[in-house]
Parts: sequence; structure tokens; C-alpha cells
Amino acid sequence: MNKGKVAVLTSGGDSPGMNAAIRSIVRVSISNGLGIYGVQRGYKGLYEGDFKELSTRDVSDTIKLGGTILETSRFPELKKEKIQKELAERIKKYGFETIFIIGGNGSLKGAYALSKYGTSSIVLPGSIDNDIPGTEISIGVDTALNTILFAVDRIKDTATSHERAFLIEVMGRNSGYLALEGAIATGAELAIIPECSVDIDKIIEQIKKRKKDGKKNCIILLAEGAIRAVDLEKKLEGKIPYDVRITILGHIQRGGSPTAYDRILATRLGRMAVEQHLIGNKNILIGFSGITYSVLPLERVVNMVKPVPMEDLKTLKYLSI
Ligand code: F6P
Repeated sequence: MNKGKVAVLTSGGDSPGMNAAIRSIVRVSISNGLGIYGVQRGYKGLYEGDFKELSTRDVSDTIKLGGTILETSRFPELKKEKIQKELAERIKKYGFETIFIIGGNGSLKGAYALSKYGTSSIVLPGSIDNDIPGTEISIGVDTALNTILFAVDRIKDTATSHERAFLIEVMGRNSGYLALEGAIATGAELAIIPECSVDIDKIIEQIKKRKKDGKKNCIILLAEGAIRAVDLEKKLEGKIPYDVRITILGHIQRGGSPTAYDRILATRLGRMAVEQHLIGNKNILIGFSGITYSVLPLERVVNMVKPVPMEDLKTLKYLSI
């Protein structure tokens, strides 16, 4: 029995675990008698009418896959009111009662904009940046952090052998979460994040102190949005007592098979999202904080900024002696 039509799409930068969320949404929808449609390439595909009905078999063996089987895109045109209105009209014409949107802050803003024209979206936080408000953690963050650990642990080995400093650039245009928590988890010396101003003299002083204290290597994680590794390298050249090398981790952080944590998080968020649709909830973000799952209206979270855990800078300072 078909109890209505719903759709799922992934939007913005992909993140590991998006497929686990799609799979969960598809199967929970079908288990509850809903017709579930997969939209290709995010909002752009929705605008262009690029979708098809999905079966349980369409998502077989996808829980372990990185990327997104629905593909994704950035659709900056959605910032224009004309396009928002047109898309909302198209969604109504397609007959979708709810669109499940797995994505980051841009996707959240898009969903909120559409809600003003009478559509309903349920957003699942998916971004490696962990900068989506209303949730402690987003789908993909744990996998990205583990990828950073994998890389930095190896870099540390060679850094020690050569007594070098390494500037390791991680993702995060506006958020220092990956740099900061990556630094904590790898035992790095410093984290440079966009939330704090970059004080080169202080960085030089801290590096010199570590060398004086007998450290064989110096590992610095920097978020791309704070300062680029190549620029920092130039500023440190000849001023610190280590030979410097840089590594830019780049999109390696966005790919790969999701960790168990991300698979479980995505699966649970997917189930909750469909259940919220079934009880008639509209235009909400499904989040997870501490030990509980939360349901927040889009209008409440859309303009919020999620802070990085700044106290972890203190933790890092204490531990990197
Ligand atoms: O939003 C996720 C993110 O990975 C950011 O950390 C990064 O700055 C950006 O996407 C890169 O985007 P793109 O893949 O479009 O270059």
C-alpha cells in the first residue's frame, strides 16, 4: 500500500556515511508503505526532475560505500528567490510530501528557504566539517577524523626520524573542528583554526620552546580556512629550529568507507527522519547530542553558528608539552 511519496537527496560536499543514511531512509520508508524516490545530484537534480523510485535492492551493499550513490552538487542558484519559488512549485507538482536532505549548512539554508513556499524537508546533518548547528556530530566526521589519524600517525614516524616540523593542512573552510580534534587525537603540538587569529610570532615561540624541551618532531594541524600550509611555511622559513615539510590532506578526508560509528549514526538518523515524517513533522533537522537524538525546527537552527569546543585548545596546550 502506497501511503504517499517522499524523496531523498544528498547535497553539498559529500561525507562518508551518506549512503548508510540513504539506505536507512529507503528501507524504513518502504517498510512503512511510502513510495521513496532517489534524486540525483542534490537540489540541482531536483530542479531538473532527475529522480526515480527506489527499491530495497537499489540500496543493497551500499552501507559500506563512501561518497553518495545519489551523487551531489552545489547549487548556488538556490539563493535566488525566483529559483526557490520555482523549485517549491516543482516539488508540489512532483507530489513529494517530504524531501529528506542529507547535507551541510548550505543544504539546511536551502531547505529553510523552500519551506517558506510551503514545502516540507527533513534535514540530516552530513558534513565532515562538523559545523552544523543543532547536532553534536554530523555524518562523516568520525570517518574523516580517522582518516586524519591514519595519515598523521604515519607522518609522525618520518618526522621523528628526520627531526622535522610538519604542517598538515586539513579541511575546514570556516570550522577548525577537524584540525583541533585531529590534533588532540594524534598528539600534535599545535592546532591552527579559523576561529582564532593567527599569531605567527606566538607560533614561532611555541615551536622553539618544544624544540628546547627536547621534542624530536613538531606536528602542526591547520585548518585550510585559517591559513594555507604553503603560506605558513613561508612565514616560518628560517625562523624555527626544525626543517619544515608540508602535507595537504585534501579530499582524501571526504572519501572512504564509513566507520562503524558513522554507519550507525546515519542509520539511526535515517530511521528517525522517516518516523518524523510519518507523525506529520515538517521542516526539521534531526540531530544527535550526547546520548539523545533531537528534532529541531529549521527556523531555529538556520542562523545558528556551531562553535568548536574551544576548551580543547587548552587541553592541547596542556598535553603538548
Ligand atoms: O564542506 C565540506 C568541505 O569539505 C570543506 O571542508 C571544504 O572547504 C569544502 O568542502 C571543499 O569543497 P569542494 O569539494 O567543493 O572543493
